[in-house]
Order: sequence, then C-alpha cells, then structure tokens
Amino acid sequence: MFRRAVLMVAVVLLAVGSCQTLPLVDNNLLRAAADLGVPPEQVRRGYDLMLGECTACHAPVHPLGLSREQWREVLPRMVDKSGLTAREQGDLEAYLRAVWASS
Ligand code: HEC
Repeated sequence: MFRRAVLMVAVVLLAVGSCQTLPLVDNNLLRAAADLGVPPEQVRRGYDLMLGECTACHAPVHPLGLSREQWREVLPRMVDKSGLTAREQGDLEAYLRAVWASS
C-alpha cells in the first residue's frame, strides 16, 4: 500500500517534470507576446516546432538555458539542420521572445 503510494507520487512527479521541459504557451506567455505585438498563433507554432522538429537529434533546449546572444548564433544553424523555412524560424523566434519577455 505504502509502496504503491510512493510509486504514484514518483509517476506524477515524472509527468510534471517532463511537462516543464519547455515553458508552456499559457496566458502569461501570450500576454507577454501581445505586449510585443507577436500574434498568439505564431507563439503556438514556435512551441510546436520546438517540441516536434527540434527534438529530432536532442532534447528540447529551454529558452533560458542559453543567453539571447547564444540563441542568435545557434538558432539559424539549427533551423538549417532541421530543414525549416524562414517563416518557421520566425515562429521559433516568436516563442523565444515571448518566454524572454514573460520571465
Ligand atoms: C539534425 C540534428 C539536429 C536538429 C534537427 C536540431 N539540432 Fe540542435 N544541435 C544539434 C547538435 C549536433 C548540436 C551540438 C553541436 C552544435 O552546436 O552544432 C546542437 C546544439 C543545439 C543547441 C546548443 C546547446 C548548447 O547548450 O550550447 C541549441 C540551443 C539547439 N541545438 C537548439 C535546436 C533547435 C531550437 C532546433 C530546432 C530548430 C534544433 N536544435 C534542431 C543537432 C540538431
């Protein structure tokens, strides 16, 4: 009984932990995006690309894991590696900017 409860807690913590890998597109993030004049759909597409396309070779990288200057250097290279378009790069930038502005 006790071991089962411990297991349940562990599973829940694991689930919560993996969800927090990338900041979710929540109201807080969308408000920050709106203040920058960034449309919500663009932020959502950026988040989806981060999770969908940018995890082909490695785990998703948290926007705050690198400095903005580092992202400016890395992102175009990674967009290239992923075979994404300029528009998709813009979506990724929109998501990054929203996270920066909201944190
Ligand atoms: C084809 C495989 C591949 C894909 C797809 C890919 N990456 Fe990478 N990524 C790498 C490799 C290899 C490195 C480490 C070497 C380097 O920096 O080039 C890396 C490094 C990085 C780093 C630097 C991490 C650090 O701590 O310095 C970031 C940030 C990053 N990737 C983000 C992204 C994003 C965002 C995308 C989606 C647009 C993406 N990657 C897609 C292979 C990939």
